Amino acid sequence: MLATLVAVVHSNGAVLFANAALEDARGLSRRAIVGSVFSDSFADPMALNNALQGIRGNDFAALRYDAWLKRLSREALPVHVIVTQTERVDEIIVELLPLEMQARQDREERLAEQAQANKELIRNLAHEIKNPLGGIRGAAQLLEMEIESAELTEYTQVIIHEADRLQSLVDRLLAPHRRPHLVGDVNIHEVCERVRLLILAEFPKGLQVIRDFDTSIPEFRGDREQLIQTVLNIAHNACQALTEQIAQGTATLTFHTRIARQTTFGKQRYRLALELHVIDNGPGVPDSIKDRIFYPLVSGREGGSGLGLTLAQTFVQQHHGLIECDSVPGHTDFKILIPLP
Ligand SMILES: Nc1ncnc2c1ncn2[C@@H]1O[C@H](COP(=O)(O)OP(=O)(O)OP(=O)(O)O)[C@@H](O)[C@H]1O
Ligand SMILES: [Mg+2]
Repeated sequence: MLATLVAVVHSNGAVLFANAALEDARGLSRRAIVGSVFSDSFADPMALNNALQGIRGNDFAALRYDAWLKRLSREALPVHVIVTQTERVDEIIVELLPLEMQARQDREERLAEQAQANKELIRNLAHEIKNPLGGIRGAAQLLEMEIESAELTEYTQVIIHEADRLQSLVDRLLAPHRRPHLVGDVNIHEVCERVRLLILAEFPKGLQVIRDFDTSIPEFRGDREQLIQTVLNIAHNACQALTEQIAQGTATLTFHTRIARQTTFGKQRYRLALELHVIDNGPGVPDSIKDRIFYPLVSGREGGSGLGLTLAQTFVQQHHGLIECDSVPGHTDFKILIPLP
């Protein structure tokens, strides 16, 4: 079940063992790989031959380099190769880390750490704000009762109104942490349908919602309400970005579902995962905030509170999943990945 590609190679270069990830990557069965000359699997066979020779001659115990792994009817895969000596003289372990995967793992790890730090910061900050807020509002109310001039009560009204606004912001910041996780069987298409109806009620004209569903996706255990909120937040952002296209009648919002097999995210390999894309043809996420959109209070929108995607990410993480965004003008794709049983 390792995500890394692993082979055990005889010092003469023949493969003794290949794991499932290596079979997958090469597009060959284990039987076809075992016994073959492993260096032939690479665009440049010399590198591995030299490494094996060096290890055989005890020049070094381990070696790392980058190479291209050949694949059946697919383009070669860039990998980081780690060749290590074992206790048995004749057996050498060769690990291959797909380079893109390693970069992605690093990025995911960094993001997860940041998200955790963010969450704690927000929770603490929200509590700190919440406490004095009640006092401020109460004092303004008392003051208002003492004041006779209507002109002056306008000021106390501003204080009360702004305190209320801050209160509701703080409540929204604390909401995902407080809310119990209601677990049941979730049908992702039912979730998309709910969101589609809500979106069409708000944007009845000029927007075409396209459904591209893989109906074979099984139900899974999850919190339906949280997932509706997640997809709604993402779809809502798309529609807000689509203002111009909606006015012209050319706006499209696509819900695309499919099953991803043998995918790796959050450092784990999943046999099956649900993949939901929410795609719009709007102007794209502004470059200036592109790598921060999942952070709280980051907004590119007049009047936006910058919480929608933070909430979405928290909810998806509670389902052990991941959200990614890929955006260029004319095509913005938010991808939600959730492991399936
Ligand atoms: N589909 C999209 N197209 C273009 N920009 C987007 C898209 N989705 C998100 N964004 C950008 O990301 C920002 C952050 O989104 P987020 O939902 O977190 O906050 P918000 O929409 O500004 O406020 P709210 O808390 O009301 O949702 C948005 O303000 C917008 O600039
Ligand atoms: Mg939003």
